Amino acid sequence: MNLSAVIFDLDGVIVSTDEYHYQAWKQISDQENINFDRKINERLRGVSRMESLEIILSHSDKNYSENEKSQLAQRKNEIYCELLNKLSPNDILPGVISLLLGLIARNIKVAIGSSSKNTPFILDQIGLAKNFDAIADGNSIKSSKPDPEVFLLAAKMLGVKPEECAVIEDAKAGIDAAKTAGMMAVGVGSAANCVNADMKLNDLTELDIEQLLEVTKIRS
Ligand code: BG6
Ligand code: MG
Repeated sequence: MNLSAVIFDLDGVIVSTDEYHYQAWKQISDQENINFDRKINERLRGVSRMESLEIILSHSDKNYSENEKSQLAQRKNEIYCELLNKLSPNDILPGVISLLLGLIARNIKVAIGSSSKNTPFILDQIGLAKNFDAIADGNSIKSSKPDPEVFLLAAKMLGVKPEECAVIEDAKAGIDAAKTAGMMAVGVGSAANCVNADMKLNDLTELDIEQLLEVTKIRS
């Protein structure tokens, strides 16, 4: 099978907003006296805002009402969006732009597949709002990663088959979602040690497009 499209996760792949997510959740956890550290934070990668909150609250003895939960999630998002205001094109992670240019030059479509409802704002802040052929995000899905919905939606929007797509992810939940969708999975950063990733990289400067095309061919 030839590679027709690459679907990029956003947080932790295009831009390091994963650090801002951590800082915002840390403020909320500290205010609530809940133990929260970077190890627990790893479990929040790729999962939705409310699911992230549930993981954090599972470390508390207190029972939170639905109303309290939605207030905490809203407060976290306000802190997070305040941090996002600082984002600029300088924050695009190394290797992203040259990869996008290389894919576009080879007529390979590019899309975003993110669980985040803040995707439009983030893309706007970093100047990439108009550079993708499709954007599937937390605003258009019911189930977040590891459910494959967001990636299958991106493929549908692009008009390509799932097996013609490669996904680039920094989260285990995202690698699992890509594999369930029948797509090739490239793990970067935290996801580089996922056993089911088809390619494993420290960051996107290490991604060789020719190798990506080769691995896609061999897989089918
Ligand atoms: C994902 C992040 O991209 O988006 C998760 O990896 C986050 O950590 C999720 O919880 C939802 O983000 P948002 O911006 O809708 O709160
Ligand atoms: Mg991510």
